Amino acid sequence: MRELFDAVRVGDLTLPNRIVMAPMTRNRAEVNGNPNELMARYYAQRSSFGLIITEGTQPAAVGQGYFRTAGMHTDAHEDGWRKIASRVHEAGGHIFVQLMHTGRIGHQELTGIPPIGPSAIAPAGKVFTGKRMAPFETPKAMGGADIEATKAAYVGAALRAIAAGCDGVEIHSANGYLPQQFLSDNSNHRTDEYGGSPEKRASFVVEIVEAVTEAIGAARVGIRISPGATVNDILESEIEATYGALLDRLSPLGLAYLHVIKQPSFDGITFSRDRWNGSLMVNTGVDDQDKVGSAKRLVKDGIADLVSFARLALANPDLPRRIKESRPLNSPDRNTFYTNEEAGYIDYPVLT
Ligand SMILES: Cc1cc2nc3c(=O)[nH]c(=O)nc-3n(C[C@H](O)[C@H](O)[C@H](O)COP(=O)(O)O)c2cc1C
Repeated sequence: MRELFDAVRVGDLTLPNRIVMAPMTRNRAEVNGNPNELMARYYAQRSSFGLIITEGTQPAAVGQGYFRTAGMHTDAHEDGWRKIASRVHEAGGHIFVQLMHTGRIGHQELTGIPPIGPSAIAPAGKVFTGKRMAPFETPKAMGGADIEATKAAYVGAALRAIAAGCDGVEIHSANGYLPQQFLSDNSNHRTDEYGGSPEKRASFVVEIVEAVTEAIGAARVGIRISPGATVNDILESEIEATYGALLDRLSPLGLAYLHVIKQPSFDGITFSRDRWNGSLMVNTGVDDQDKVGSAKRLVKDGIADLVSFARLALANPDLPRRIKESRPLNSPDRNTFYTNEEAGYIDYPVLT
């Protein structure tokens, strides 16, 4: 019988436990996307997790959707991540950088560049541009050159992550950002080889993963998906066909892991287990009232190889120890999730 504290292989790494810090945007980077000392302290504090997946990090300037998120497309970004990776490694941890291209979830007041997407369809909603809450813009429908430039940006960012000493990258294909905008038929109305059928809508994501895999090796590449998610104005009508097509093409690649987020309306965990022959990392979703109990059960039953925690990792730097010793958990303070301050970031108490 397996449990959360059994070691697990992820790519070429052996992780000491199966408890993963889920990716979380925290808006503490510098305005130019440079990672900083505060972030190094935050991640180093969480080095007892089997694996840390970082905040969503933009692979290109046009892929930045939020104020003060970190980048991985300049030398200064790479230097900042090098310091963070080394602090996490010194403390015995492992770190994958999540590459997040926000696509149509962005604003040119933030980046100086009009946002891009699979089709010229504006999402409903507003975004903070650093100055004001502004309605989303209609993105530029990506042409062939944009698609090639985007692939090159992911590859460039992945190479920088490895050069910075990080253990790998996670391609963020969940939660309504650019890759899921291609997967979903309400945001992708293309009639070329990237749209019109589940297989074609999956092609963009497959090509990104293949390009990154070729550059840094499959053992250092994970992917995150959220089949059926409706966040960021996504509405998928062919969930099983689309994600079936995606996983059929990704499963043979030998990736480090597949990271799937369960939705109230769709159990992506059960769906993925049958279609994935590598390590499966799961997140049971924000509606799960017993995150730790679910995690133990999913690992024990052989459904999940790893389980990620977001809000509990944010509030409990020593979550693995607390789970192991059945100690009380700190509660996350949502008022400080996205502020750019130390409070609510590096000051959650640890057990003494
Ligand atoms: C503050 C915050 C920031 C988040 N940022 C990201 C992100 O950058 N990338 C991502 O894939 N998911 C992000 N998420 C979603 C979480 O990774 C996770 O899927 C979700 O919170 C459910 O997990 P939980 O119940 O353990 O919190 C974020 C969640 C929170 C609470």
